Amino acid sequence: MFDRFRTVFAAILLLPILIGPVSQAQQRTVQDGVFTEAQATAGKLVYDENCGSCHDMKFYEDIWDYWQGKPLLDFWFTIVAEMPSENPGSLLDAEYTDIIAYILSERGFPSGDTRLERQNGMDGIAIVSP
Ligand code: HEC
Repeated sequence: MFDRFRTVFAAILLLPILIGPVSQAQQRTVQDGVFTEAQATAGKLVYDENCGSCHDMKFYEDIWDYWQGKPLLDFWFTIVAEMPSENPGSLLDAEYTDIIAYILSERGFPSGDTRLERQNGMDGIAIVSP
C-alpha cells in the first residue's frame, strides 16, 4: 500500500520534468510577449506610411480566425510576399517584423523583453486569439 503510494507520488513529481520541455516548445504563442515595445512603436510609423491607407486595425480582427493556430512566420511571409499590394517585398525585413509587432500590439497582445526576429524561432510562435 505504502509502496504504491510512493510510486504514484514519484510519477506525479516526475511528470512536469518529463513533459515540460516538449510542451514549452510547442506552446509558445503570441500571448507570451514575443516582441518589444520599441518594435511596436517603430512598426506604427512604417505601417502608417505603407499599409494604413488600405487596412485599418479592424481588418486584422476580421482575418484573425483564419490565422489562428498557424505559425507567426507564415503571417510574416504572406505579408512580405504580397504587401504592400502595389509593391510587394519593398520594405526591409526588419520593417516587416516591426509591422507584425505593431499589429500584435494593436490586437492586444503583450510586449516583452526579447525582440521579434524572423530567424529566431518565429516559426515556433503560434497565432492565437487575443
Ligand atoms: C493599395 C492597398 C494596399 C496596401 C498599401 C496594403 N495592402 Fe494589404 N491587402 C490589400 C488587398 C487588396 C488585399 C487582399 C484583399 C483582402 O484580403 O482584403 C490585402 C491583403 C492583406 C492581408 C491578408 C493576406 C492574406 O492572404 O491573408 C494582410 C495581412 C495585409 N494585406 C497586410 C498588409 C500590410 C502589413 C501592408 C503594409 C506593409 C499592406 N497590407 C499594404 C491592399 C493593400
